[in-house]
Amino acid sequence: MSINPEIIHLLKTAQHVAILTGAGVSAESGVPTFRDAFSGLWEDFDPTELATPEAFLANPKMVWDWYAMRRTMIGEVAPNPGHHALVALESIVPKLTLITQNVDGLHQAAGSQAVLCLHGNLQRVRCFSNGHYVTEWAETDSVPVCPTCGDMLRPDVVWFGENLPVLEIETAFAAAADCDVFLAIGTSALVHPAASLPIEALKHGNPVIEINPEETPLTRSATYQLNGPSGVILPELVAAIT
Ligand code: OAD
Repeated sequence: MSINPEIIHLLKTAQHVAILTGAGVSAESGVPTFRDAFSGLWEDFDPTELATPEAFLANPKMVWDWYAMRRTMIGEVAPNPGHHALVALESIVPKLTLITQNVDGLHQAAGSQAVLCLHGNLQRVRCFSNGHYVTEWAETDSVPVCPTCGDMLRPDVVWFGENLPVLEIETAFAAAADCDVFLAIGTSALVHPAASLPIEALKHGNPVIEINPEETPLTRSATYQLNGPSGVILPELVAAIT
């Protein structure tokens, strides 16, 4: 694909690039998106009903098992060329803020520094009431418990109805306001507050480049649209500015 020279100029001259990624960035690693993961044994479940504190309290083992299945799956995949291109971009631009909605840890596995994880991290586990972090546990017939307080363990992800981590979301909004260019990559731009970040950038007069093979609610307002998979487009973009 030939990339619009205005995009290349923007990225070459930017002092601060802010980036929001979503599940699409991991699609080429073989990680099914949140909704796509509800197939096979899990196809009768509604994701928005399963990923809530209420669902966990009502049926902890079922919710724990769903996340255990996701954790196993993520342990078997690797970062793709899109993740690697973002690591390369970090070494090219003076300042890069990488904000992700993904809980798969693939940006960190690729080598991105200081990733702002808005929705938590699936590989981390903490107890439900007291937030004690636990690094080792055994899978049994019931939900494992915290060695410190005996409370049930849960994945350290943000569930529907829960607040996002304050420092991360504040830093993300500040980056959207401050950046010279904002990239929204592989996100359906539906789930707020993350979906408000590119809008915040636009409000401050900062151009937004969307990278996605599909249209989203952001497409019309984005300054530029690069239509295609991030695993192809991001390496091309990085090659074009190097
Ligand atoms: P979604 O699953 O809602 O959307 C994935 C987006 O990736 C879609 O717009 C696809 O068109 C796009 N896509 C698919 N393949 C792609 C590729 N190869 N390259 C680039 N884009 C591609 O994922 P998110 O926007 O991340 O929240 O979803 C946001 C949040 O909704 C998730 O973090 C999760 C979910 O509910 C929580 O769990 C709190």
